[in-house]
Amino acid sequence: MASAGDPPTSPRDAADQNFDYMFKLLLIGNSSVGKTSFLFRYADDSFTPAFVSTVGIDFKVKTVYRHDKRIKLQIWDTAGQERYRTITTAYYRGAMGFLLMYDVANQESFTAVQDWATQIKTYSWDNAQVILVGNKCDLEDERVVLAEDGQRLADDLGFEFFEASAKENINVKQVFERLVDVICEKMNESLDPSSSPGSNGKGPALGDAPPPQPSSCSC
Ligand code: GTP
Ligand code: MG
Repeated sequence: MASAGDPPTSPRDAADQNFDYMFKLLLIGNSSVGKTSFLFRYADDSFTPAFVSTVGIDFKVKTVYRHDKRIKLQIWDTAGQERYRTITTAYYRGAMGFLLMYDVANQESFTAVQDWATQIKTYSWDNAQVILVGNKCDLEDERVVLAEDGQRLADDLGFEFFEASAKENINVKQVFERLVDVICEKMNESLDPSSSPGSNGKGPALGDAPPPQPSSCSC
């Protein structure tokens, strides 16, 4: 288990101080929705069917290139189990983006989204960006949450929405890239004096972000 003061995950990452921005991202949602699997798919392109529930919190580091900038992502994977809630919510502060995940084959995990959204509101920065992710869209036969319902809830909460599958590698990279892009858009807004009267207008801009990706998978 990693803690806030721990070094990054590999010597290569540790040595890599060559980046323009560092974004702290958090994965949250009920236990077993697939947060750890999603992160492993993104960071290592691996997937295991075995379920090893996360204890507390862990993280991985990945560097991406967006808009000619090198962006180091520190991605925190939280335990969904209630008993770790005090530990995990302590990490919300300072997070620039959240992936709030549910399982399309698990109604309870979808019902809990509202509570997770409240946790974000309570513990995170006001301008943290959130994407709602309906994971396990490969389980079409076991689906109990329709994509339209996910989209509607996301609209109500003011979040973007994707369906995805860590198992089949559907929309995993796209979700992370979109989260990075919305954070960049937000940064540019707050740095642009014309769009934000109170800002100082200093600092680099990241350029225009591309249009949103399709929000649901085709499976
Ligand atoms: P906690 O650490 O307890 O919060 O759970 P988690 O959200 O990290 O879930 P985890 O990634 O450990 O996945 C739970 C189970 O779901 C594992 O058996 C995974 O193999 C499985 N799983 C994860 N993603 C998918 C997916 O996209 N499709 C299918 N079919 N199974 C998945
Ligand atoms: Mg986990």
